[in-house]
Amino acid sequence: MLKYTFYGHACFMLDDGEYKILVDPFLSGNPQATISPKDVEANYILITHAHDDHLGDAPEIATRLDAEVVAIPEVLTLCTSRVEKAIIAHAMNLGGTLNLPFGQVRMVPALHSSGVEGGIACGYVIKIFGKTIYYAGDTALFSDMKLIGERDSIDYAILPIGDNFTMGVEDAAKAVKFLNAKNVIPLHYGTWNVINQNPETFRGLVSGAEVLVVKPGQSIGL
Ligand code: NI
Ligand code: MN
Repeated sequence: MLKYTFYGHACFMLDDGEYKILVDPFLSGNPQATISPKDVEANYILITHAHDDHLGDAPEIATRLDAEVVAIPEVLTLCTSRVEKAIIAHAMNLGGTLNLPFGQVRMVPALHSSGVEGGIACGYVIKIFGKTIYYAGDTALFSDMKLIGERDSIDYAILPIGDNFTMGVEDAAKAVKFLNAKNVIPLHYGTWNVINQNPETFRGLVSGAEVLVVKPGQSIGL
């Protein structure tokens, strides 16, 4: 089974039973966080951009676990600067595919600021356990999401719906169409008042895909 665990805000874990892939590990200071950065496990850490609510505790978790960090070079440089111990880092950039023991990771564009000079925000297409998962990271709606859906058959799209910093429910529902995703998991909402959104409103706007609302601390099988 492929397990998806939501740790709150935009932090989640994919676990295929052998490898744990932790994404955007913002736990310290995350009002929704359901695990401590001292307790969370990971073999790989994927980071979409350097805003605190995404890069989060990645440097400390990576050095504690010797987990490999995947990110844009500028984001990796920032991670490295925050800890004494060396980080196992794999730099990628947009359009690149990385083969890893559990499958594949492709770095794809996102329309958002990066939080670090010279950087760029990204999303990921992750192939693991026979499933294709697209995590948009923080982004506005953009029409090239159609290309992501054309290239791969998206089993699960993980999309921000909180509005203000990212697309809101209407644009996220349109993203589901662009991606031709079979299932969609909303996140990046409700953490603070400024991104309060009702996932049931989002569900009502989505057609042609199943909306899976996963609460912080909850795990589901994908
Ligand atoms: Ni951001
Ligand atoms: Mn964010």
